[in-house]
Amino acid sequence: VRRVRIPHLQAMKTEGRRWAMLTAYDMYSAQIFDEAGIPALLVGDSAGNNVYGYETTVPVTVDELLPLVRAVSTNTKRALVIADLPFGSYGGTLEQGFATAVRFMKEGLAHAVKLEGGRAMAPLCELLTTAGIPVMAHVGFTPQSEHQLGGYRVQGRGDAADALVDEARALESAGAFAVVLEMVPAPVAARVTEVLSIPTVGIGAGSGTDAQVLVWSDFAGLRAGRAPRFVKKYADLRGILTEAAQAYAADVASGAFPAAEHSFEE
Ligand code: KIV
Ligand code: NA
Repeated sequence: VRRVRIPHLQAMKTEGRRWAMLTAYDMYSAQIFDEAGIPALLVGDSAGNNVYGYETTVPVTVDELLPLVRAVSTNTKRALVIADLPFGSYGGTLEQGFATAVRFMKEGLAHAVKLEGGRAMAPLCELLTTAGIPVMAHVGFTPQSEHQLGGYRVQGRGDAADALVDEARALESAGAFAVVLEMVPAPVAARVTEVLSIPTVGIGAGSGTDAQVLVWSDFAGLRAGRAPRFVKKYADLRGILTEAAQAYAADVASGAFPAAEHSFEE
């Protein structure tokens, strides 16, 4: 199997073929999605909510994310593995962002990094790309800035649409190989997709983007309670695992497990 690389994602845009991205945080999710043919896997800082159980992505550290990136990277054969740079690990100085990205490439064995922010991130984006580190940009709603943005809100509505298009353009000029558009009105995301020559990856951005991304624990129904509007639940893993755990506990209580076939003879 040949590894998916950036020119392949670019070619899909040129050919008008849409593709799907998922997050992954461990060996099993990585193996399964890789074998299912998902071309790009993101080790998101959404591990904050989905692995570590924090309320937001803000507390996640490089040391928490790095081992997950390495697990995903070493357990895929085909997918392009993208490491999210956590809040506070870049954006202070160029040196800081460069050092963090290098750690994800060297220690995490990532194939690319993702960072949040618009035009302000263009210099870092350019520095990293020049150094051989592919960058996926992320604009629209950027969860790492939720305290600044005042919560989970759609970005780029009305008068803000032109600015969003310009931010995405600036990141493309700075060398980004793709850009995530999160919680952006569908027509605005479609406009960005048309204007840019690099792929756009939407989440809550309608069907007009080149690709889509979902958090795997959302799409597979692991999370409790209501999912955001932009999530489609493709499985009910929470229900399946709950039933399995209850059946196991009942079998142990009744003595039905372990049976002879699970036991060793003398
Ligand atoms: O961390 C994450 O999972 C993300 C995607 C939802 C784009 O940034
Ligand atoms: Na993220």
